[in-house]
Amino acid sequence: MPPIPEPGDSYFRCLRVPAFFERFYARFLASDPDVPRRFVGIEWREQTQLLRRGLAMLLLVPTGNGAARAALEDVGRRHGPAGLDVPDRLYDCWVASFLATVRECDAHWSDAVEDAWRRTLQDGVAVMQAAALTGPGGSGRTR
Ligand code: HEM
Repeated sequence: MPPIPEPGDSYFRCLRVPAFFERFYARFLASDPDVPRRFVGIEWREQTQLLRRGLAMLLLVPTGNGAARAALEDVGRRHGPAGLDVPDRLYDCWVASFLATVRECDAHWSDAVEDAWRRTLQDGVAVMQAAALTGPGGSGRTR
């Protein structure tokens, strides 16, 4: 049996594509009319750094890394009702946009790679959403 693909390997292949994050955000912003207004006035370079950090958390949580999980829970609270108030629908847009961008950028993309990503992203989103319901804006911005 071929080895189970590692989303981390795929991520590092995507990072070698210079416009990876630009392509993701272009797709995500176009995915629902409610997304662009939330990013008005955003400093994109900084936002991309924050997203890189968020992805590191998403990839480390399944390895049992407690610090990554706590950090992701903070990010989740900040996205929750007491903060950015991101609805579930937009998380679905986020995941779909991310998977489509990986498909475009990862030279070794396959259905199995996509499945591995989908599981990791869905588990991470579940951690964020569960934390969002546990209290107010967490310990504040994680940057
Ligand atoms: C798994 C999915 C997501 C991850 C990993 C993620 C990650 C992050 C991180 C790490 C930050 C910075 C957190 C902080 O300042 O404490 C952030 C900010 C933000 N995110 Fe997300 N996010 C996700 C989904 C979404 C979705 C679905 C939306 C909906 C539009 C969204 C909108 C925003 C906005 C508007 C900011 C604030 C930018 C600012 O004010 O500086 N995010 N995100």
